[in-house]
Amino acid sequence: MNYQSIILDVAELSKEVGAYLRNEQLKIKTIDVEKKGQSDFVTYVDKTAERKIVDHLKTLLPEAGFIAEENSEARIDKDLMWIIDPLDGTTNYIHGLSPFAISIGLMERGQMVGGVVYEVSLDECFYAWKDGSAYLNGQTISVSKAPTIKDSLLATGFPYYDFTRLEPFIHSLSFFLQNSHGVRRLGSAASDLIYVACGRLEGFYEYGLSPWDVAAGAFIVQQAGGKVSDYSGGNNYIFGREVIATNALIHKEFQEAVDRFMSDRPRN
Ligand code: IPD
Ligand code: CA
Ligand code: CA
Repeated sequence: MNYQSIILDVAELSKEVGAYLRNEQLKIKTIDVEKKGQSDFVTYVDKTAERKIVDHLKTLLPEAGFIAEENSEARIDKDLMWIIDPLDGTTNYIHGLSPFAISIGLMERGQMVGGVVYEVSLDECFYAWKDGSAYLNGQTISVSKAPTIKDSLLATGFPYYDFTRLEPFIHSLSFFLQNSHGVRRLGSAASDLIYVACGRLEGFYEYGLSPWDVAAGAFIVQQAGGKVSDYSGGNNYIFGREVIATNALIHKEFQEAVDRFMSDRPRN
């Protein structure tokens, strides 16, 4: 399979759907926002964007199945699976903030083989495919060379529906705030990941994430020379609801620090 041509096609698709998101952001009103939870929002824009993406991908690779946040396509497991978040950062989006992004990953028999994350407000398209490099708008990107947490700018996502691990999380945050260049909460996990991939951030961690938040961005981090794991250093970061992504150099130090604070979490 020619992963490169598939991913370049998906990069163009994400820019087209991104233009739709950009236009609608100017028009969106409070009445258009539905609540999935206390601070979990969805709009007609998320749903329409996903429909546009799914319709195109069905023609591009008819044999593939879908894991898509807004469920526009029933999940039927296939060898090839698209993993899609049509709008990552909906809260930013409805408040007129950035970043917000489209995230589309391609998995083949359980392994990621391609990913596109298009950050719409800055018109930045990040993508990578199996056995290739990682790119931002056609230029090769790579992770930063900062060697320790002390030299690092970090990012996280604040818990917003699963507060069971809030206390250890706050302790971890307190530690990183005092021992790094700072900690950002950008509001789009896909954007956090691609910013690690291109060296703007050194490390990112968040729990409670879904596969569509992580799959494409994590793959792009790896193709850019970074490292991704779950909190205990294992590989269950796409479906395991916790992710750490770094420039690789700080990975061990960062992962052990995150795990030290978060390991009293309920494990199942
Ligand atoms: C959310 C964003 C946010 C993260 C949440 C995600 P959504 O995605 O990535 O940064 O903290 O966990 O659910 O709901 O805007 O697609
Ligand atoms: Ca998301
Ligand atoms: Ca979303």
